[in-house]
This record gives sequence, C-alpha cells and structure tokens, in this order.
Amino acid sequence: MNEAAATPLPRFFRLVALDTVDSTNGVAHALAAEGAPEGTLVWARTQTAGRGRRGRGWHSPPGNLFLSAVLRPDAPPGEAAQLSFAAALAVHDAAAEILPAGVRTDLKWPNDVLVEGRKVSGILLETAETPGEARPALVVGIGVNVAASPPEAAYPATCLADHGATADLATVLAAVARGIERWYGRWRDGGFGPLRAAWLARARGVGDPITVRLPDASLDGIFVDLDPSGALILDAVGGRRTIGAGDVFFRTGG
Ligand code: BTN
Repeated sequence: MNEAAATPLPRFFRLVALDTVDSTNGVAHALAAEGAPEGTLVWARTQTAGRGRRGRGWHSPPGNLFLSAVLRPDAPPGEAAQLSFAAALAVHDAAAEILPAGVRTDLKWPNDVLVEGRKVSGILLETAETPGEARPALVVGIGVNVAASPPEAAYPATCLADHGATADLATVLAAVARGIERWYGRWRDGGFGPLRAAWLARARGVGDPITVRLPDASLDGIFVDLDPSGALILDAVGGRRTIGAGDVFFRTGG
C-alpha cells in the first residue's frame, strides 16, 4: 500500500503492508511459524475472511484498519493472554487521541473498545508455534472500524468517522502501534498490575448490573472487579463467579 511508506511506526515494528488477504491473523500466524521476529506487523487494506472472537467473522471493508502484530513474550501462553488488555488499551488511547475532544471512549470486558457506547474495535489473540522456539509466538489481531461499521453485529457497532474523526488509515495505524509498544513495555516491566489498573480506569460498567453471555448460558449480576489474571468477577444470583471468557452486555444506560 502506498500509505505504508509515509507511516511513522516505532522502530520496534517491521511493517508488512498488503492489499487483500484472507486474514491478517492468518498471514501473521504463517510468518511467525516461519520465525518472523517480534514486532512483525501485518497490515492489510481488506480481508476476505476476517476472523472474530468465538468463531464469528469480522466485517473487513477497505477504509477500516486490519492489523496483526507478532509478539514473542517470555511467558507461558496463559499469562501472555493478558496482552489482549494491552491491545485494548492501545486502541482506546489511539481512539481518544484521534477523536474530537468530548467524544466518550471506554473499554468493555475483555477487550472491546467503545465509542459513545458502541463497539469500534475488536481484538483476537492467537498463538503460533515456531519450530525450535520454546514458547509459541503471540499474534495480536486488531480491527478498527475507521470509515464504516458492520450492518449487523453481535454488539451495536460504530466507526471513528461517525464521531468526527478525520485521520487517515496510516495515522490510525501509527497511533495504535505506538500504544502496543507502550502497553507491551509496561507489561514486560511491571506485569499485569499496571495494565489492570489502567484498564479499570477506562472501563465501562464496573459496579453496574451486566449480563454475561457464555456459550451455553447467560448470567446476570454485578460486575465487581477484574481478578489478578484479568478474569471478570461477577456477583451473580446464586453467588460470586469468576469468568474467563464471555460477551458482556450492559443493563443500564450511560
Ligand atoms: C472480535 O470478535 O471482537 C475480534 C475481532 C478481531 C478482528 C481483527 S481484524 C485484524 C485481525 N485479523 C483477523 O482475521 N481478525 C483480527
């Protein structure tokens, strides 16, 4: 892509800019398996088979941002999964930087970014084994609705342009990349604690009634806190639950 040449990315990244791919996560996965270094950043103009959480697809028209970063954290996969919070913080901070002052941005557990209460971004972490490496690489896939939002979505969606953002894709990419480098660095230096605190400071719904949809059930309760690993603590009817994966829906406005 032509814009790639003008993209001022932190030196940590090595950009692989492509036109149409099936999924940037798929491309990054293949590169990681071949030994691509940490910081490899796959950016595509459009995806034909964008992957979402829980087996869903991801609407991927030109004009939106699709990227996947290869990281090689020195931690077991369960701990490295905390980096989905680093990605969410990166996108949140990029959106806040790009949007006009006064537009509300917040985070929805585990890693959705909301603008004025609607989902603007999705994050999908995958692991990729590299022959000869003790630990799998982490593929951090990020989609940001910059110019368009999906006509149908599991959660009400929006895009940055609908809230007055005028930044081009390369600018959004660079802002997200700076955030990944910043929050990945904080995690490497200080573990999950600083990310947990930063996430909670930007989160929507802590202390409020929520519904958590699991694959086979729906739980109502109060969103109490994040546990030290990033799981959601819910005071549900029938007792306290610690939830590792699910879709959150708010039951109050604002
Ligand atoms: C979600 O369901 O919220 C996660 C969506 C993640 C989409 C991004 S787009 C770039 C990367 N490549 C993919 O195939 N998926 C992720």
